[in-house]
Amino acid sequence: PEQGRYQAEMRYDMNKQKKITIDGFILRGSVIYSETPEKLVTFEDAYLVCENSLSRGVFPEVPEEYKALPLYDTGGKLIIPGFTDLHLHAPQYRFRGNGYDLELLEWLQTYTFPEESKYRDMEYAEESYALFTDDLRSGFTTRACIFASAYPESTLLLMEMLENSGLKTFVGKVNMDRNVPDYYVESTEESIARTLRLLEEIKQKGFNNTKPIITPRFTPSCTMTLMKELGKIAEEYDIPVQSHLSESLAEQKWVNELEPDCSGYGDTYKKAGLMGKDRPCIMAHCVWSDEKEQELLKNNRVFIAHCPESNMNISSGTAPVKKYLRDDQLVGLATDIAGGSSASMLNSMKNAIQASKLRFRLFDEKLPPLTFSEVFFLATRGSGAFFKRACENENVGSFENGFSFDALVLDDRSIPGLRPGLTVTERAERFMYLGNESYIRGKYVSGKKLF
Ligand code: GUN
Ligand code: FE
Repeated sequence: PEQGRYQAEMRYDMNKQKKITIDGFILRGSVIYSETPEKLVTFEDAYLVCENSLSRGVFPEVPEEYKALPLYDTGGKLIIPGFTDLHLHAPQYRFRGNGYDLELLEWLQTYTFPEESKYRDMEYAEESYALFTDDLRSGFTTRACIFASAYPESTLLLMEMLENSGLKTFVGKVNMDRNVPDYYVESTEESIARTLRLLEEIKQKGFNNTKPIITPRFTPSCTMTLMKELGKIAEEYDIPVQSHLSESLAEQKWVNELEPDCSGYGDTYKKAGLMGKDRPCIMAHCVWSDEKEQELLKNNRVFIAHCPESNMNISSGTAPVKKYLRDDQLVGLATDIAGGSSASMLNSMKNAIQASKLRFRLFDEKLPPLTFSEVFFLATRGSGAFFKRACENENVGSFENGFSFDALVLDDRSIPGLRPGLTVTERAERFMYLGNESYIRGKYVSGKKLF
């Protein structure tokens, strides 16, 4: 449908002559979504109903009560839930693809801090964030949790652009008051003042799609004093938290030296009040979390954002995601631009499988590789569950009745070489390996058609 939303009038109850207006439409095509990490649900040729921004489910025939809704026949294209990118850095978009000969701590000093500090300049920020927002909007991502720079002015600009894009996002101004070069570091007071000022400005704006998230960069660049203040702000304003955890061995060792009174890296966030059962929280990476830290994450219902490409690019390692799934940890998938070079969640899925296979063969044969079904789950329901946790009652990442209507229409049959007779799952798997953004034919977020 051209506008994405249609008003359809239908006679709901013939006896009472009651007219009910429902807002919705129907997509016809080959549908696939995850039920569990192990189970994909597929329909070769079916009708996916959107009503009032929610999926009403997938049906072999159009149900009677939806017959009046406008129907859009995709001609057998793949229809999948949109992907949620659980962790990426908007002000790193322009230097993705360079600097991967370095490891995390050197990479931050050499490339990341100089680049992010440019976002003090509103002209550079406007040009760069427009690029970032346009690319995210035209790609596979429907929702994302984003780190901005330390500057509140350009962070607000990014939030305005994302609000207008129609994507659903959390965006955080980064906080950091130690071990960052003078040209970019904040004082503790400045970091807190900027955060509070930005939160008030966001309130004034009344955004619908874009929400704030408290974003201490990581323990090496935040004093415990700053982190505790941020913990109080998160509580007072009732907003979620995102940060990095146990990404590289050198980083982990440094945290143990910096905070000897904490029982480990994860404990620094816990002690600061940034993690807790009632505080929605994302920790990126968790490559080197030991059993005790894994227990901490589970007990505090922390979401782990797996960033496979980033972990390979800057030689961090590979997280034991299969174990996290088996242990019922909350885990999702992310691109971690610019540790990751690609903003495509499709690439992230592929990289997650490939990294898990090397991990299995070279490091730990007791932990089997990830499957297509598992990475599909991670990119849709796994990551999407954070939105349920952080936005009251919003179900994300599936087409089951009651889930937000976030959908992608994919023309997989235009990728040369398709053999006839593939199942819907095989088509989706092939698309993960061979597809790219140029095959997207439609994108919906919360029932709204972006294109
Ligand atoms: N740890 C602290 N900051 C960063 C960052 O910008 N990228 C990655 N990958 N890890 C971090
Ligand atoms: Fe990151």
